[in-house]
Amino acid sequence: MNLILLGPPGAGKGTQARRLQDKHGLIQLSTGDMLRAAVAEGSEVGKKAKAIMEAGQLVSDDVMIAMIAERIDRPDCKNGFILDGFPRTTAQAEALDDMLASKGFKLDHVIEMKVDEEALVERVTGRYSCAKCGAGYHDKFLQPKVAGVCDSCGSTNFTRRDDDNEATVRARLVAYNKQTAPILPYYQQHNVLKTIDGMADIDAVTQEIETIIQ
Ligand code: AP5
Ligand code: MG
Ligand code: ZN
Repeated sequence: MNLILLGPPGAGKGTQARRLQDKHGLIQLSTGDMLRAAVAEGSEVGKKAKAIMEAGQLVSDDVMIAMIAERIDRPDCKNGFILDGFPRTTAQAEALDDMLASKGFKLDHVIEMKVDEEALVERVTGRYSCAKCGAGYHDKFLQPKVAGVCDSCGSTNFTRRDDDNEATVRARLVAYNKQTAPILPYYQQHNVLKTIDGMADIDAVTQEIETIIQ
């Protein structure tokens, strides 16, 4: 099964993609995570992407399409994947269609996570993650069972993203509304779009997604 999770910053794409990965063995393909790894490595792509991400703007289509094309080519994607953060523009959506067609892959569902904009700012500015295993947390909505200790791996080191401040989140929302939301009608026309309530609590959102993919 191949899915796209679509939604603005903080909608819960990463949170739900990790759950789908754990439960169904699908591969999470997060272009944001790939870019952050490139920035941490100091690669050419990372050097170019850093300032763009910190400004809350989109990295160029050619870079992103090449990144996903290379990743989808790897053998583990044959068993199904969840696209988290891609496509984000019409050009990316069209390139994805070509990639899928050339590999004989089918797109089963595009799941739009609808969320109230003010809630997103609160979600994103309160987010942090385990520096060792990447498990995601939130100051208010998802705290570790033991304060300061990662539930998944026991690490006591946590990090916050450079782009998780209010000014950048607002810019990311503008980019979403202007460049990404226009691709929704495209998926609607192809009868693969399902819209869910991303304002529900995390377990309820998981349940909504499970009902769609069953
Ligand atoms: P990316 O990393 O994709 O960021 P984003 O789209 O802004 O989305 P987020 O990761 O912030 O949100 P999320 O939906 O994953 O939410 P999460 O589950 O963490 O991209 C970053 C940047 O990279 C972009 O700005 C751009 O510059 C560049 N980029 C990436 N892909 C690109 C592309 N294809 N083209 C061009 N540029 C690209 O949840 C957020 C928080 O809320 C967490 O703390 C979580 O615990 C909490 N939470 C989650 N669900 C709920 C819930 N239901 N109730 C309460 N709290 C919840
Ligand atoms: Mg994410
Ligand atoms: Zn951890």
